[in-house]
Amino acid sequence: MITVAKDRVDLAQQAAELFVQLASERANRFTVALAGGSTPKALYELLASEEFSSRVDWGKVWVYWGDERWVPASDADSNEGMARAALLDHVPIPPNQILPMYNGESAEEGARSYAAKLVSHLDLVFLGIGEDGHTASVFPGDMATLHSSDPVLPTVSPKATAQRVTLTPATLCRAHSVVFLVAGASKASILKSVLSTDDPDKFPAAYVASHADDVLWLVDQAAASQLDPGANVP
Ligand code: 6PG
Repeated sequence: MITVAKDRVDLAQQAAELFVQLASERANRFTVALAGGSTPKALYELLASEEFSSRVDWGKVWVYWGDERWVPASDADSNEGMARAALLDHVPIPPNQILPMYNGESAEEGARSYAAKLVSHLDLVFLGIGEDGHTASVFPGDMATLHSSDPVLPTVSPKATAQRVTLTPATLCRAHSVVFLVAGASKASILKSVLSTDDPDKFPAAYVASHADDVLWLVDQAAASQLDPGANVP
């Protein structure tokens, strides 16, 4: 399903409402994997606001990450650091329910130990897409990661902060809900390609979208500008 939000603010608002709703549907434990990037950051800041944080029972929330740049949380590139500053430092989540990927060891060892902490079916996974069609830290052309049955793997980005650890598509696709957050005109072209390709192996985002059970594309009008009119499927 594709939902087109008016702009970034509306997108964050709709994603926050979805988080609140899905969390409320789980009686004891709600497991979520967070994404990095500027679009999720706006969502996290909104969830930390009184308006939203008061509607979540944080005691049952368990926080994972979809991927991580292999740097400590204090590094400006850290997805964990961003999520802590925008959200986790401001809400009453028991610290043992926050499960960062980075552990100061090698990425290989980090991936191995994260696999042991992971639940098999996450309730909710937030993902972004890169302008090359990557999602989490699964990059185009990395067929070994794309098709791996391992739950977590170290990968290498062609961009800065090369060393990454990522949940694999095998894990991402088992989640109960997968939500792609896509905003801005710079994503219009890749969003069109990802949604219209007949070769999902070409773009990791397309692969995840075509193999996961419940996928929502939450995109803003700027990102949706190259999609066919009527893409706003209710
Ligand atoms: C990376 C990128 C990337 C990012 C997406 C969406 O580390 O390779 O930062 O994974 O999350 O490109 O980013 P935006 O939400 O900022 O568009």
